Amino acid sequence: MSRRFVLLGDPVAHSLSPTIQDAAFRALGVEAVYEAVRVEAVELERAMRLARSGGNVTVPHKARAATVVDVRTEAVRETGACNCFWTDDEERLCGENSDVEGFRSAVDEFPEARIAGGRVLVLGAGGAAAAVVLACVQGGARRLAIANRTPARAEALARRFAAGATEIGARSAADAMRDDWDLVVNATSLGLSPADPLPMELDAGRVGAVLDLVYGPGGTPWTRHARFRGVPSRDGLGMLIHQAALSVRRWVGLSPPLDVMRRAAAETLAGGESTAPRDR
Ligand code: ATR
Repeated sequence: MSRRFVLLGDPVAHSLSPTIQDAAFRALGVEAVYEAVRVEAVELERAMRLARSGGNVTVPHKARAATVVDVRTEAVRETGACNCFWTDDEERLCGENSDVEGFRSAVDEFPEARIAGGRVLVLGAGGAAAAVVLACVQGGARRLAIANRTPARAEALARRFAAGATEIGARSAADAMRDDWDLVVNATSLGLSPADPLPMELDAGRVGAVLDLVYGPGGTPWTRHARFRGVPSRDGLGMLIHQAALSVRRWVGLSPPLDVMRRAAAETLAGGESTAPRDR
């Protein structure tokens, strides 16, 4: 019998996830469909409980999903965000945050990016930023700064992770720009809309590498700006693929081939500038 997995979010129309997950299931020989379903916040819990095989949760419901599940992984507890769920044998709704491992894996395959012993600046203080901060703290970053449009959210996020060995604090972006960083991560939603300003102007002398969690055809405005300034950059596609692979492992217990997923994503992204996804 074919299993049905869902992506719950609002909006979800332009997500690449169905393309990536369908490719993964096909490659593994798993009979399954993966559908994007637009749901409002009040419908989220019911939709998660109805989708018995499991699914993913995306913007803007990740924080709510973390409160709705019955069983939370450490990553969900620490970040307060859940983007992957399933029902276990005891009928409990279980939640994972695969963004944490997805980010770690994306950095691992980005040779110029360094977390262990490094200085990392995180732009943004929402659910995506929390996953990045947790991955950086676990990955042994020496210094971590969080800069956000609403400073109180950056301060709250910094406080939440303040107990460990990483020196962590909130900064204004303008102030942080005067320091040197091994890695700067855009975890804001800037770049999702073509009219958005850049998350931060880059200076090649001060920034070792940038990772934009937003992805798009040919990268994002910020990764193009980075390239222009001579700063090594990656967009969020790598993280998207890795978090999707972890979701599949959680659901069916098999590791999907990343190259197949990557190829499917690249083909869809190359399908046309105007209709191609732009997401994170
Ligand atoms: P997610 O869970 O996906 O991270 P979110 O919690 O809505 O989504 O967070 C979005 C992030 O992008 C926040 O850091 C937000 O800043 P605020 O906390 O000030 O809202 C940031 N963001 C969104 N629009 C922005 C803009 N126009 N300029 C700067 N930052 C922006």
